[in-house]
Formats: sequence, C-alpha cells, structure tokens
Amino acid sequence: MTAAVTELLAACRAYLESQDDPTARDFTTAIDWTMPARTLEPAGLSCLGHLDRAVGLAPAAERPLVELLARYRNEWRWGQTYSEADFGQHFMDNYGWVELFGTRGHFANDQLAAGFLLLGPGITYPDHHHIAEELYVPLTGGTEWRKGESGFVARRAGEIIYHPSNVSHAMRTGVEPLVALYVWRGGPLAQKSTIGVGG
Ligand SMILES: [Fe+2]
Repeated sequence: MTAAVTELLAACRAYLESQDDPTARDFTTAIDWTMPARTLEPAGLSCLGHLDRAVGLAPAAERPLVELLARYRNEWRWGQTYSEADFGQHFMDNYGWVELFGTRGHFANDQLAAGFLLLGPGITYPDHHHIAEELYVPLTGGTEWRKGESGFVARRAGEIIYHPSNVSHAMRTGVEPLVALYVWRGGPLAQKSTIGVGG
C-alpha cells in the first residue's frame, strides 16, 4: 500500500464527513473505513492533463482533495467504462475515473464504491443510468447536470447531487474541466451504466 492512496482515502473521508447534508450523511455513515488496500497497477489516461486546471478551479474546501488527486495522478489506476463506439473518440480523450474503494478500487469494499470522475472542457456525458444509487459532489464548478426528465441545471462545487437507482442523469462541462467525487451503493458496484433515458 502506498502512502498516497492512504492519504487520499483519509482526505475523502474528511471531506465527506464534513458535509452538512442528510443524503451525504446517510451515505457516509454507511461506509466502514477499515477497508483493506489492494495492490493495483497504475494506469494513466490522456485526460489527466486537465487535473492541473481543476486544482486551480477548486474552492478552498474542495482543493485539498483535488490537489492530492492531481499530485499523485501517476499512482492511480485510471479507467474508462465506455468505448469509442459509445460516445466517440473526443469523449474518450477527455474522460476518465479512478475508483478509490469498491469491488475493483484501491481499497476493497463490496458494500459501497467511491471514486473520482474527470471530464475535460466541452464534454457532454449523455444520459445514463445504473442500478446503484449514487451521490455526486462536484469538486469544481461551472458544469451543468440533469436528472430524470429535467433540464440541465448549473451546479456549484460542493453541491450534493443524488441519483436514485435507475434514474437517468447526464452532465456537461463548459469551458472548464470537471472533477467530481462519486459514491455508489446498493447495486452491482462495477456495472457499466446503461446509456439512454430509462428507469
Ligand atoms: Fe451515475
């Protein structure tokens, strides 16, 4: 286990536990933080260059988490669930995530999963849904999110966004990248999202 991943887990815990929000509290109190580390081979992605800008965008409360994510970027196992056939090459060049804990993350947890989503500027992550319910906290602002049948809504850094099981959601970046923290629970934790409006 590296010191970096332990530090990131501690920062993630501190950030989630600092949220004064009933939904966030409901997710956070369900997490058993004594989870064993996994040895994962690091893997990079082309989108990681956006992390530097994301550090500059993150407000004071969110910055320590984004800064850690960026500083040790080469130690994380970055991944992509989709392929070029799903959303095109431009999306793939500007999209990635790392699972901090979960069924395949840097720490083993089969009850909940959590990690970070990174999107470059000018990207639309189209409607998708999954069985697990999901908590999202954007760590940078200036992005728009939609849930169910609603239109896109601007979301600030630090807002708590809740997606119930199988409710479709989408997000799009403007001129800046997005880093968001996500937590999944109550479903297959490594499921590839179903693309399209559904539920
Ligand atoms: Fe989701």
